Amino acid sequence: MLSYRHQFHAGNVADVFKHSILTRLLVGLAKKDKPYCYMDTHAGLGRYDLTHAWSQKTAEWRHGIGRVWARADAPESLQPYLEIIRNANPDGHLTIYPGSPWIARHLTRPNDRQIFCELNKEDYNTLKTNMFGARHTAIHNQDGFQALRAFLPPPERRGLTFIDAAFDQSDEFGRITRSIKEAHQRFATGMVAVWYPLMASSAMQAFDRSLQAIGLPKTLQLELSVYPEDWTAHIRGSGMVIINPPYGLAEEMPSLLDWLWRAMSPEKQGCARHQWLVQE
Ligand SMILES: C[S@@+](CC[C@H](N)C(=O)[O-])C[C@H]1O[C@@H](n2cnc3c(N)ncnc32)[C@H](O)[C@@H]1O
Repeated sequence: MLSYRHQFHAGNVADVFKHSILTRLLVGLAKKDKPYCYMDTHAGLGRYDLTHAWSQKTAEWRHGIGRVWARADAPESLQPYLEIIRNANPDGHLTIYPGSPWIARHLTRPNDRQIFCELNKEDYNTLKTNMFGARHTAIHNQDGFQALRAFLPPPERRGLTFIDAAFDQSDEFGRITRSIKEAHQRFATGMVAVWYPLMASSAMQAFDRSLQAIGLPKTLQLELSVYPEDWTAHIRGSGMVIINPPYGLAEEMPSLLDWLWRAMSPEKQGCARHQWLVQE
């Protein structure tokens, strides 16, 4: 039973965090001429109408992209992400928020390839409509975890696998850890980026240890929270682990995350963190 619908959360703090990083990963991959494959295991709708009743109901986007998109002092590294948002809202009013497939569609080059998986049938159909005309794009109504087995390694032997699960099932952290291991074993030179919500610190320490135990190469961990650690009303923040990150990412992330934290945490709660979870 699929209960999670991203329309309620599109453009929130976690989306701004994950998509800012995703943009940097795709910009990094485009630095070499050789084509790459982008695989999005949990693709969502591709594009979100923020005037939709579900977005209006939670208004989560007001605390996320609503606080960021019109700022004139955003760092250079955030510009490709902001440009995609500005292009999606050409009249200057923020009504459309681009999801990960839309971002990838705008950053992949003519010879790059994209694979999108979305298990919810209705969301899959909307994704297909939103991605109409996208080049070198395959869209599957399929379980994204199983798709790792079907599509990795890609023939290009270069690429990014983005795992952005719904976290609506028990033991999602265990399933994520097994999926990271599988993705890396099948495609050892590929980049893998995985988003996760921040839970109690004991659960997060257990997750870190489980990742450190599966024999990963260089792995960068980035986190951004905008509420204190004992916050329980909703998620306090989120993180991303990036296996085989592009050259220079670790250096540019601290200032980017710090800027995002200042922009989205006016009460100065929570924090931005970065560390090598696995060193070279
Ligand atoms: C967090 S949202 C994805 C957001 C999207 N990656 C973005 O950044 O715009 C998670 C999506 O995964 C879908 N989903 C849930 N379980 C899935 C599974 N096992 N395989 C593929 N998609 C799944 C949900 O329907 C939902 O649309």
